[in-house]
Amino acid sequence: MQKACSFVIFGATGNLSVNKLLPALYRLEKAESLPPDVAVIGVGRRDWDDDLWRGEVEAALSVSFGNAFDTAVFGRFARRLHFMEGDLRQQGCYEALTVRLNGDPDLPADNLVFYLAIPPSEFAAVSKNLAKAGLNQERPGSWRRLVVEKPFGYDLESAQMLDSNLHKYFQEEQIFRIDHYLGKETIQNILVFRFANLLLEPLWNRNYIDHVQIIHAERQGVGGRAEYYDGAGALRDMIQSHLMQMLTLVAMEPPACMEAEALRDEKVKVLRSIRPIPPSAVHAHAFRAQYARGVVDGEAVPGYLEEEDVPSDSATETFAALKLYIDNWRWRGVSFYLRTGKRMAADTSMIAIRFKHPPQQLFRETAVEALKPNWLLLGIQPEECMRIELQVKESGLEMRTRTVQLDASYAAPDAGQLGAYEALLLDVIEGDHSLFLRYDEVAWAWRVVDPVLRVWAIERDFIHTYPAGSWGPREANRLFDREDQRWRNAIDLAAYEQEAYPK
Ligand code: BG6
Repeated sequence: MQKACSFVIFGATGNLSVNKLLPALYRLEKAESLPPDVAVIGVGRRDWDDDLWRGEVEAALSVSFGNAFDTAVFGRFARRLHFMEGDLRQQGCYEALTVRLNGDPDLPADNLVFYLAIPPSEFAAVSKNLAKAGLNQERPGSWRRLVVEKPFGYDLESAQMLDSNLHKYFQEEQIFRIDHYLGKETIQNILVFRFANLLLEPLWNRNYIDHVQIIHAERQGVGGRAEYYDGAGALRDMIQSHLMQMLTLVAMEPPACMEAEALRDEKVKVLRSIRPIPPSAVHAHAFRAQYARGVVDGEAVPGYLEEEDVPSDSATETFAALKLYIDNWRWRGVSFYLRTGKRMAADTSMIAIRFKHPPQQLFRETAVEALKPNWLLLGIQPEECMRIELQVKESGLEMRTRTVQLDASYAAPDAGQLGAYEALLLDVIEGDHSLFLRYDEVAWAWRVVDPVLRVWAIERDFIHTYPAGSWGPREANRLFDREDQRWRNAIDLAAYEQEAYPK
């Protein structure tokens, strides 16, 4: 497979490019994993040239990497960076790109990646413009690929429209629908953990698992992204994509093999088995809220409505929680709780699986008050880890138990150098679709959340709030099926016990 290519970033000066893509490419450079003949072309509306962009990128990377920023590595990286001023709505931009590609010997012109780091509303028009300029045309031995960020559409209908628009100009093999969570170490490890260990499979079902929590919390607020975020909200931004993908990996059946289509077939089967939420059950299955002023890391921060570019009457949710059931043989009756929020108390992403209680309370007559259930915890970030919580007897004459964590953490001390985007960007260059979404996955995920979005779109007069820096409103607990279920906020045992069983 030829890897020499020009990696064209549309929206090069935007948030995604600056915070995720360029740092990922720089890390790949540092790890010497970026193929030598890869040039990066940033396209943006600013009146910049190569040198100016290189300076801007250097400044941004040196801030985000701090002491780890390596000027020698950046020197190498900078030689790959090229900037082109252009307005994506104007056809002239694409003609100019073609001229530049054909006229500059530093820019491979046969193999091209077009990364749409732009608002989703522009995806269709940009792909059409690319096609008008012939930039979608592959010749024998060359390739052209389009990377589309989430959210893929705004709901099922718009996703369908977008997909058929993209397919007018690009073949399915050329389209890479990215969900960067699939590039994260622990997410990829879920499959190894499940399917390379016999031990877990007999327990991995409705007979032993009480419920599953899939959680993403972050301390940061909406930042400068209100223009996009206010139209999206937490359910579209995180749950329909990242959290549902995690759910599919936890719940799927073993695939026939590890090839992209086999994996994606199994994921789709899970999504198709999710019990639809009728409008009358939306309140029992979904909860939303918005952050109000509060304190994060000791600093007073504004509420969502006070953020730049947020309309003062916005009812967009910054916190969303969803209860889902998967109606198949393995999972029927097991609740899957998905929860995400901005301006929460901590940055944490994890999958927490709670097992059922043993069938007999054998220790009732002893000092053991109540047996605590086993948990299996998959930490995604900040800590990549796998832990299992078990009960053991405390030493001494009395029969008392204590929870211990078996830690199967695997991250090497110097791990964390390569993040989610790095793996996925290389996959695009290598043409590997395994960790990218097929359209039917996207569509089935929209089918799950659409009924909730429709009800929320009508009910815009009231939204619960939570103080920034908290774990969200207590009312979110109403999703739980039983009183002994509660949100797991921490992987750390002491922190969890402190919250769950306060002294
Ligand atoms: C993005 C969302 O897809 O994922 C953001 O649009 C969110 O709102 C981000 O902050 C979280 O990703 P990560 O990798 O930082 O957990």
